[in-house]
Amino acid sequence: MTIISTWEISFQGVKIARDILKEGKSVEDAICGLINDIELNPDFHNVGYSGWPNEEGDVELDAAIMDGDTLSFGAVASMRNIKTPVSVARLLVGRPYDNFIVGDGALQFALENGFKSEELLTEPAKARWLQKIHDMTDLDKGHDTVGSVIASGGRVVAATSTSGLFMKRKGRVGDSPLVGPGLYADSEIGGATATGVGEDIMKGTLSFQIVNLMKSGMSPSEAAGKAVKDLHENLIRKNQKPRDFSVVCVNKEGEWGAASNRDEFPFVVCTGDEVEYYVSKDFGKVYEKRKNQYDI
Ligand code: GLY
Repeated sequence: MTIISTWEISFQGVKIARDILKEGKSVEDAICGLINDIELNPDFHNVGYSGWPNEEGDVELDAAIMDGDTLSFGAVASMRNIKTPVSVARLLVGRPYDNFIVGDGALQFALENGFKSEELLTEPAKARWLQKIHDMTDLDKGHDTVGSVIASGGRVVAATSTSGLFMKRKGRVGDSPLVGPGLYADSEIGGATATGVGEDIMKGTLSFQIVNLMKSGMSPSEAAGKAVKDLHENLIRKNQKPRDFSVVCVNKEGEWGAASNRDEFPFVVCTGDEVEYYVSKDFGKVYEKRKNQYDI
């Protein structure tokens, strides 16, 4: 069993996923348990409840899940008022059509399936939005999307969830709900997922690219490093300034990799009992083990 997930905020969620798998439940139960833990945490502002709002002060959420056994997926985008969008996306997996639904259609589908409509904007997120409206010179946009991949019992499943970029335009959707850039899983090869600025991640179809590199024989760490470096360098060759993007991946044997064009990219891994927190440096050439503030 290997579980890998982006950012420090995944620490408790990875423990939850590990325990769900140990109870003999499904990989989907485990990956949604991991991501629900982050979606429901009011202190994590890039995912689910308490996510950063768009420029109009509304929280619009994106999420997806892909089943590597069938290549089927479920995805929602620009969905409001639902705290756990990855669980809504999960209900769309395996349908012949309607695998990706957005906006009011996604909310309606969630309500029809027993999800509660709730306010997602919390006081701290609203305060930051009001401050930003007041001071439009701060152009920093948060993008700590959760993306997770699990390889267990011959299956590979990937999933994502995000509130997208802070102060995004209403209706803007990034890479996270998109099969190809944001996530990809094929149980015969492995799975990958991305985090960072979706507009750049889409340009490299980053997650699919990593799975394809693993298919050609690369290890997960080689594939992650090459895909991130190639996209970074391609953008520079085309006179673009690359924004931040980072990836995690696992092959079907449970070997893992991570890479980023940031100086440091934190992620969490579990390959058995221990849940370990690492920082990836130098396009995935270096992994440094660190202590995690959420290890409680
Ligand atoms: N990677 C998240 C986004 O760009 O929305």
